[in-house]
Amino acid sequence: MLIRSELVSPPIVSLDHVWKRYPNGTQALSDICLRIPGGDFVFLVGPSGAGKSTLVRLLIREERPSQGRVWVDGLEVGRLPRRQLPRLRRQVGLVFQDFKLLPRLSAVENVAFALRVSGESRRTVRARCRAALEAVGLWEARDRYPCELSGGEQQRVAIARALVHGPRLLVADEPTGNLDPATAWEVMQALLAINAAGTTVLMATHNRDIVDLMRRRVVALDRGRVVRDQRAGRYDAAPQVFALRS
Ligand SMILES: Nc1ncnc2c1ncn2[C@@H]1O[C@H](COP(=O)(O)OP(=O)(O)O)[C@@H](O)[C@H]1O
Ligand SMILES: [Mg+2]
Repeated sequence: MLIRSELVSPPIVSLDHVWKRYPNGTQALSDICLRIPGGDFVFLVGPSGAGKSTLVRLLIREERPSQGRVWVDGLEVGRLPRRQLPRLRRQVGLVFQDFKLLPRLSAVENVAFALRVSGESRRTVRARCRAALEAVGLWEARDRYPCELSGGEQQRVAIARALVHGPRLLVADEPTGNLDPATAWEVMQALLAINAAGTTVLMATHNRDIVDLMRRRVVALDRGRVVRDQRAGRYDAAPQVFALRS
């Protein structure tokens, strides 16, 4: 018997009729309903301006919805008291297009930085950094500085930094946007391994080749609306002729 994963695990991300209008009047998201069960790997696709980054910012409370509710791992993000924001941001690992590494710190120091300010012991910091850098295959390169690493390696360090708190959800906004195809693929492998180890991954991208190769869940946004939500999807909707045959 097939049991749909949504029924087994409660969603780690849930958006319930979410609208977002920026103060300047731009309507960035309109009536978004989305559920992501724990363990999923989801591509968020759509043209520039579709609302992908806005959705990402709602998940970490960099923005609040104008209407509707956003839940992450049981927390209603829009109504979270300010003092609980650090907890939310530990539960959600973030990766951006530009890696945002600190140039004067080595790979392992970059990963450790967030933990040090949270007051963990040196031993715990080292063990967590090691686990995170091993997860992206870069423990051996831990003492190198960002300028001594390739673009793909720098992005993998950024992924390790996002993982170091042991988040249940990793959100990546165009993580391969600055990388050539071979390097992008290297970053993709790291994200897949992390997902296989149990972390839910939401990746906003307009990298058509990667989405088409992976055949994972695809949520497509267009002008702020979800226009498609497909298991084992592709970047573009299937041509009409296939839809009619199936
Ligand atoms: N801080 C902001 N203030 C006003 N409008 C914004 C802001 N951020 C994004 N937008 C607008 O919201 C829409 C969605 O943008 P965004 O979420 O960045 O889309 P995407 O990441 O898919 O390119 C666009 O029209 C964009 O210009
Ligand atoms: Mg964007």
